[in-house]
Amino acid sequence: MDQRLREILNILSSTKDYVPGPVIARRLGLSRAMVHRLVEELKLLGYVIETHPRRGYRLLVSDDLSLADRYVRDIPGPLKFRVHYVEKCASTQDIAEALARQGVPEGTIVLAEEMSKGRGRMGREWIASKGGLWFTIILRPRKIRYLQLLSLVAGASIVEGIEGFLGVKTMLKWPNDVLYNDLKLAGILVEGRVEADIVDYILLGIGLNVNNDLPSWLKDKATTLANITGRKLPRIPLLRSILYRFNENYKALVEEQYDRITSLWRKYSTTIGSRVRVHLIDGRTIEGLAEDIADDGSLVVKLTNGTRILVYAGDVEHLR
Ligand code: BTN
Repeated sequence: MDQRLREILNILSSTKDYVPGPVIARRLGLSRAMVHRLVEELKLLGYVIETHPRRGYRLLVSDDLSLADRYVRDIPGPLKFRVHYVEKCASTQDIAEALARQGVPEGTIVLAEEMSKGRGRMGREWIASKGGLWFTIILRPRKIRYLQLLSLVAGASIVEGIEGFLGVKTMLKWPNDVLYNDLKLAGILVEGRVEADIVDYILLGIGLNVNNDLPSWLKDKATTLANITGRKLPRIPLLRSILYRFNENYKALVEEQYDRITSLWRKYSTTIGSRVRVHLIDGRTIEGLAEDIADDGSLVVKLTNGTRILVYAGDVEHLR
């Protein structure tokens, strides 16, 4: 991040109050116009900065997720985000499903501070205590073709959102685990109702470990952004940063720019080029080289006998 952006953030985060533009300009030896431009850049990175014509700029450092709805409404793109916040629930997927059946528009998000029965992929449990980002986005993509790509879009958007906001580089394990030093930071669950090739709704569940405590048995498998950065992080700007990227990338999907999505995913992939063991959903296991992802988002695995297999669903283990 540009040194000047950092300096502005330092000034704004030293107080809960507004700081007048001329004060920032004087302290940093910049023009007021430049301060304004840099503040706009910070907003694009996900920081929530309120601007008042006389009082100046104020940085939102609140970590109160019940306020999230206010800060996602202006994110540009095909999805008009609205947040339905709950303090505690069994799983945001269930609430989102009920809302989807009632016909709420796509872009509706169910966000919970805590879940007692969080769901992971392949029937696993997802531990979701206070302090993380646990949310489900309701989507109504028109084409079934999008489905596998949708989860790649979400994975890439999380990686970009984290990097944009914190400068921390993370990687993707197929299909969409977000890893940091091989430890899991975020996971994605795609559920939905599709009938006769028509998508009624998709529930895109995203779980990102931020300030939450992990149970000791998970500590050699998973990590949190607070562990990585050594500080507690404000989650609303982080959520904003991810949704910002998601809306951009979702636009590419809606506009059928499939190449853009697969190349984006390749860019962040740690799976391609690795030797992998894949646990398929029918219980079989295959081993080979993860060569690439196909246009539809499936993983191309080359077995030792040279045969290539397309994997649509399964669990990948990277072999050393
Ligand atoms: C995985 O196994 O990697 C997927 C984890 C998905 C967790 C998220 S948290 C929000 C949403 N609600 C759930 O119950 N699960 C997903």
